[in-house]
Parts: sequence; C-alpha cells; structure tokens
Amino acid sequence: VRTVLVIGAGMGEADHLTGAARRAMGRVDTFLTLDKGAPGDLGAVRRALCDAVLGSGTARFADAPDPPRDRTAPAYAAAVDDWTAARAAAYRDLLVAEVPEGGTAGLLAWGDPAFYDSTLRILDGVDLDLHVEVVPGISSIQILAAAHRLSLTRVGRPVLVTTGRRLAEGGMPAGVDDVVVMLDGQAAYRCIDPDGLSIHWGAHLGGAHQVLVAGDLRDVAGEVTRARAAARAARGWVMDTYLLRRG
Ligand SMILES: C[S@@+](CC[C@H](N)C(=O)[O-])C[C@H]1O[C@@H](n2cnc3c(N)ncnc32)[C@H](O)[C@@H]1O
Repeated sequence: VRTVLVIGAGMGEADHLTGAARRAMGRVDTFLTLDKGAPGDLGAVRRALCDAVLGSGTARFADAPDPPRDRTAPAYAAAVDDWTAARAAAYRDLLVAEVPEGGTAGLLAWGDPAFYDSTLRILDGVDLDLHVEVVPGISSIQILAAAHRLSLTRVGRPVLVTTGRRLAEGGMPAGVDDVVVMLDGQAAYRCIDPDGLSIHWGAHLGGAHQVLVAGDLRDVAGEVTRARAAARAARGWVMDTYLLRRG
C-alpha cells in the first residue's frame, strides 16, 4: 500500500498553510505534480511552499506532463471524464515509478480539495492500492469572505457554490439569495439580471496582487470587468471568485 496525502495548500502563501498541513508535508517522501506548462501553472508555487516549510531544495518532486484536455468536445461532462481517466493513469505511472510500496506521496491541492478540485476524483480512478488522507486548506471562498469582512451564510440561510458556466446558463438560482461563483471564465455576472443583486468580487485573493470590488451589481459590473482585465494583464492569468447576494 502507498499512502497519498492530499494537502490543502491555500492560495500559495506559506501563511495559509495550517499546522496540520505543515506536519503532513513533513511526512511526504515525494510530491507529485502534473505540469500544465501554461501561464499561471502552479508547479513553481508548490515548490516555493515546500522550500518555505521544509527548507530550500529539500523536498523531492516527481512531475509528469498533464494530459491534454479536449476543450472542443461538445459533451462537457464526458470530456472531463476522459481527462480525469487520463490523469488517473498519469498519477498511477508516477506512483509506480517514483514511490515505493509503503512510501508516502504528497499532492498539494490549491485552496481546499473540497471545492472544485479534481484530485480526490482522480485518485479514486487510480488503479493501485492506496491509503488516501486529506488535510483541509484555506479556500478562495474563505479568503473572499474574510477580505470583504462578510459571513456568507446569513442567519439560518443557505449559501450555494456554483460555477460561472451554470450562472450564465441558468441565471441567478431560484430559492437562494447568496451564491458564490467560481470557475467563471466568461464574466457570467454580466449575463444575469442585476436587479436587486450586489456583488463582492475578488481576484488573486490572498496574495500581494489581491484586488477587490464590491457594490450593487448594476453599478459595479463594469468596474469588475475592468479590474479583471487589468489583473489578467498584470500577471498573464487571473483567478477570481465572487458572492452574488440578493437583498
Ligand atoms: C479549480 S478551482 C479550485 C478552487 C480551490 N480548490 C479553492 O478551494 O479555492 C479554481 C477556481 O477557484 C477560484 N480561485 C482559486 N484561487 C483563487 C484566487 N487566488 N483568487 C480568486 N479566486 C481563486 C477561482 O474561482 C478559480 O476559477
């Protein structure tokens, strides 16, 4: 049996790592990464975190290229399933080659592995006997709430976490007044009726380049779009998360 520690790494700042995450990092023999080789790739951030926590250059890494994802496929879910299976096979090969039986591999998951992170789903598909442990991390959702000094759940009320794609397709969901939107590549907040909605938006949350905008959606949608474009231009990539609130 091989042990795999899935460690929530926060937003790439050593300050975001919990004590449990730091201890788990110390148990890892080899950190595994699938490298996209794209702007904003997180491989360098993961290495910097290991340097900060474990000492410069002491962590062992094993990388493989991330299998390409078919973004042209009409069936989104099927294309993601294919990609997940290819990534599971890549992790299997890395584990067999780089982590002996009885050894411990580490996967640093961005934010918290509970939110829109494929690591656990991929590991489910790895055809090896694995003991998987999860160490929670600080999600962009929590950083967004803290940065805007917000509680996401109003008294006795629910909050929904969804994607920009779903928001653009279906509009503001019925029956929920607080919606956290992630994975929004298309500025979906511009596709919905802004009437009665506020937005609390953040990009590059938790780091030195953090940008925040808040206000009535009707008034600040343009400002969000400009801030998003500027944030992307400054670093070559941008990740943003926002709360839409009715009332
Ligand atoms: C693949 S999901 C990973 C989420 C991650 N597991 C978490 O807990 O935040 C990527 C999405 O998370 C959000 N995100 C991640 N890092 C962010 C950051 N530094 N600032 C703002 N949003 C971020 C964005 O909505 C982005 O599209």
